[in-house]
Amino acid sequence: MSNAYKAAWQASIDNPQGFWLEAAKALDWAQAPASGWSEADGWFPGGQINTCHNAVDRHVAAGRGDAKALIYDSPVTGTVQTFTYAELLEEVGRVAAMLAALGVTKGDRVVIYMPMIPQTVFAMLACARLGAIHSVVFGGFAPLELAKRIDDAAPKVLMAASCGIEGQRTIAYKPMVDEALKLAKHAVDHAVLFQREQVTAPLCAPRDLDWMALREQTAQAPVPACVPVAASDPLYILYTSGTTGTPKGVVRDNGGHATALTWSMANIYGIGAGDVFWAASDVGWVVGHSYIVYAPLLAGATTVLFEGKPVGTPDPGTFWRTIDRHGVKAFFTAPTAIRAVRKEDPDATFLTETGTGPCQAIFLAGERADPDTIAWLEEKSGLPVIDHWWQTELGWPAIATCFALGDLRRKRGSAGFPVPGYAFTILGDDGKPVPDGESGSVAIKAPLPPGAFRTLWNNPKGYAKNFEGFPGYYETGDAGHFDADGFLNIMGRTDDIINVAGHRLSTGQMEQIVAQEDGVAECAVIGADDAIKGMIPVAFVVARAGAETDETLVKRVVSAVREELGPVAALKTVYAVPQLPKTRSGKILRNLLRKIVNGRPYDTPATIEDASVPATLHGIVHG
Ligand code: COA
Ligand code: AMP
Repeated sequence: MSNAYKAAWQASIDNPQGFWLEAAKALDWAQAPASGWSEADGWFPGGQINTCHNAVDRHVAAGRGDAKALIYDSPVTGTVQTFTYAELLEEVGRVAAMLAALGVTKGDRVVIYMPMIPQTVFAMLACARLGAIHSVVFGGFAPLELAKRIDDAAPKVLMAASCGIEGQRTIAYKPMVDEALKLAKHAVDHAVLFQREQVTAPLCAPRDLDWMALREQTAQAPVPACVPVAASDPLYILYTSGTTGTPKGVVRDNGGHATALTWSMANIYGIGAGDVFWAASDVGWVVGHSYIVYAPLLAGATTVLFEGKPVGTPDPGTFWRTIDRHGVKAFFTAPTAIRAVRKEDPDATFLTETGTGPCQAIFLAGERADPDTIAWLEEKSGLPVIDHWWQTELGWPAIATCFALGDLRRKRGSAGFPVPGYAFTILGDDGKPVPDGESGSVAIKAPLPPGAFRTLWNNPKGYAKNFEGFPGYYETGDAGHFDADGFLNIMGRTDDIINVAGHRLSTGQMEQIVAQEDGVAECAVIGADDAIKGMIPVAFVVARAGAETDETLVKRVVSAVREELGPVAALKTVYAVPQLPKTRSGKILRNLLRKIVNGRPYDTPATIEDASVPATLHGIVHG
């Protein structure tokens, strides 16, 4: 075992305040924090900080203005564009001036519905600069989901682009923005639209403003100064799937976030100033927020913003070429992406041909990394492949192998060890710790370390719920166990959340949508195993008597989920069935459905209402 890892973890548990106050010294504070933690104010009470200053300005001030900050690599548009720290400062400053001209100030919200283009990064950092709170909404969500987020965050301004590019397809965003603004009860003052050359969207005055025109109009305005905010003030709200149809607005603070991310770059990923880091995710997810935008820039490193897919843009060699072209030192992606690459290039011909340049390690997260995928990637790349685990709520890895602390221990199928700052316990249903080797609810002792959420936007009760199941602990919603060697294995969720291609979705929310569809008497949505996406949702619907043909109903259900939740839901399989298996008390046996769909053996429980139902379903599903 790495002594450095062990010492760091122990120090973070024995003296969390000292440990994190020391880590916080890596940042510029407008006012240094008075102490490490207080129950009332969270991490770094009394501290005043600006995240944009730390991610951008201070590197320029330190004479690193010519160092590369951002590389935009877009195989879908054939563009590679580099921004130095000085150029990034200029761009962020211009967007901050635009927002300031629209009256955006500290504490105001700005919703950002944009693809993987540099302007999205500028917009996020510009908000941080002004002390405003951004909320980025992933482009794969439908207008109704965008509207829900607009209503909850009540932004002054919405920033959008005219289109996203998904593989070979161009997806117009403006019609979705218009629809969302129509559906939302909250009215934004302005929608600022960045017109990409692929699509020019019509603007609706006076609400809509053209990004570049606004930039022109404010060109003479001075770059707004970085506004110091309290360490506990929100930097962003990121909505994620909960167990209901209402998304959870995870609130990220400034001080704890900047401290934890900076620590993680040096101690988990081994990235410092001048290194190149690439997280192949999307800025709409937490991985994108933390490891495309904030962490690499806080560390003074170079981040790669990749607008493409692992396959098809144009081929499964794109990851390796991008790593090689930019000299990526550490690469982060989702297991799904590797499975997709492997499917198209099983012998890793592209990888063998291109190599992996100076890359030292590949990190995986977002869903469980199956041992077979890790084995393939390690064998073909010759690099350590490190699975690590975290959640939107936590903001940065909580279980990992701390590679940069000299730890290389890995066990395929395990996410690694508790990261410094995190004290994990596996709890049984009675709330008591279970022995090693036994599965239970994965819980983290409160208080959570810096970076982790301390509330949900407009929903403190929803936040408190995470700590109610097991008093004194944060309930992660995952099930897992420690093995005899101290590795933590995450086995799946304890709730109705599923991970589809690394995207977190609620089957409960899909059920709500399906249930509302005309002609549906009852339904169930479950996660089925999928060779590429890890999981995919599958719906079972029982038609109301006299409803139209099953085929029409199935089509309507598929399109309802796509239209209301978005294409990212990837619900493509719907079975119209005569009945659902239920207990005598009427509870739908989703576990049984899951086994049937996955072709696993099952016993018909004695409590089931009609023992012939599973057999019928089995016939339908596999027939
Ligand atoms: N804007 C608009 N639509 C989007 C979108 C976006 N930003 N992202 C995804 N979609 C759409 C896709 O076009 C697709 O629509 P379709 O049903 O019309 O084809 C649907 O949402 C599902 O997308 P996706 O999950 O990306 O599936 P895919 O089949 O297009 O690609 C993979 C499969 C494996 C290549 C892809 O899922 C992938 O790259 N996964 C890695 C995920 C990842 O990095 N997750 C971050 C967690 S760390
Ligand atoms: P998200 O909030 O979208 O990051 O999703 C978090 C959830 O994804 C976790 O609660 C897990 O269920 C799952 N997850 C993320 N990373 C891993 C991993 N490395 N291994 C297993 N599950 C993971």
